[in-house]
Parts: sequence; structure tokens; C-alpha cells
Amino acid sequence: MKINVVRHPLIEHKLSMMRDKDTNCKDFRQLLKEISLLMAYEVTRDLPLEDTIIETPMTTFTGKMLGGRSIGVVPILRAGLGMVDGVMELVPSAKIGHIGCYRDPDTHQPVEYYCKLPIDVDQRQIIVVDPMLATGGSAAMAIDFIKKRGVTDIKFMCLVAAPEGVMTLNNAHPDVPIFAAALDERLNEQAYIIPGLGDAGDRLFGTK
Ligand code: PRP
Ligand code: URA
Repeated sequence: MKINVVRHPLIEHKLSMMRDKDTNCKDFRQLLKEISLLMAYEVTRDLPLEDTIIETPMTTFTGKMLGGRSIGVVPILRAGLGMVDGVMELVPSAKIGHIGCYRDPDTHQPVEYYCKLPIDVDQRQIIVVDPMLATGGSAAMAIDFIKKRGVTDIKFMCLVAAPEGVMTLNNAHPDVPIFAAALDERLNEQAYIIPGLGDAGDRLFGTK
């Protein structure tokens, strides 16, 4: 099983607050944004740099600036939307795509309802964001769509992952690294993550 668990005391603290069933919608949204920003720091750690000549007020200096591919952020609707602002704080020039899918409540299989990606998506490194990796069906399907558009450089970033979802995504897309704030225990019979944090979309948007 291949997964990068991003460990940081601030992330652990904030995630515990999000797991608390008494945390309200407003705080849940704010915490998700803050954790996403902290995780984005780690997810972008290997971005390539190139030499750039800069005139400082004192002299000429060869500094480093980002080179390589531009970034695209693709949230899986709905809950992935809550992670976009945090990532965009760190990479404000990234373009944003959207993939909409929901899990059928009986089969737990993802059903796609929307897909709109940047025109030059195949030229970018794409960070797919969704707080929950449960069965892995939604993430695997979203990444299928993105690959069909010619994208070769993809990362997946979530908050809470279940071992079942990690295995599914590893098998479907072995080239896509997974970053999570926590690897939880298991799924329950309804394919919800245990201990998890409940239904991320409902808690984020107050639709419970
Ligand atoms: C949640 C979550 C993921 C998906 C994960 O979305 O945000 O997209 O479930 O489950 P999986 O790994 O088993 O596919 P949901 O289907 O509840 O839709 P929503 O975000 O619109 O509430
Ligand atoms: N989707 C959620 O929002 N939460 C889970 O635990 C599983 C899927």
C-alpha cells in the first residue's frame, strides 16, 4: 500500500477538531481550508526550480523560481471544493477544473455528473483534491477522466483515507501519489470511513 501521510502537529490538531461531531459548518469549512494549505506545502515539495537572474536593489543575483509544468487543481464535487482555497493560497496562478460525481447510496459506485477542465490541462501538473478516499471509486474515476484528456502528471490529495480506497487507487493508478492527513482504520457496511469524520459534503455545506 503506497500512501504519503503528511504529519504535522497543526494538521493533527485541526483534523481532530474536524472529526468532532459537534464542530459546526463554519468551523469545519475553515479547518478544511487551513489543513489543505498546510498539506499543499508538502504536496508541492518536489516542484522543479530553475535559475533566474534578478536585479536586487544591491546587485545582480541568480535566484531560483518555479520552472516546469504549471499547476492545475481539480476538486471532486462537492466536498473537494472545500480544499481549493487552501491550495490556491500557495499556488495562486493555478487553473481550476471541476469533476462532479456522487456515490450511489446503494451500490456505493461513483456516478459522474460534471466535468470541466482547463483547456491546457495536459500541459499541467494536476492536483486532484477530495477530503475523503473511502472505496476509492470516485478518485479513480476522476483520475480516469483527467488521464483521458492526456494528463500524465497527477497527484491526489485527501484528508482521510481508508485502506480500501488506497488499495483501489494504487491498483487503478499506480503512477499517482496519494497524500493524506490520516490513514484511518476501515470502512463500515455503508462504505463510510471509520473513525472518519462523517459525510464531508454534508458537513461542509450544511445539507445534512
Ligand atoms: C464523498 C467524498 C468523495 C467520495 C468518496 O462524496 O467527497 O468524493 O464520497 O467515496 P469513495 O471513495 O467511496 O468514492 P459524495 O459522494 O458523498 O458526494 P458529495 O461530495 O456531493 O457529498
Ligand atoms: N464520503 C464521505 O463524505 N465520508 C465517508 O466516510 C465516506 C465517503
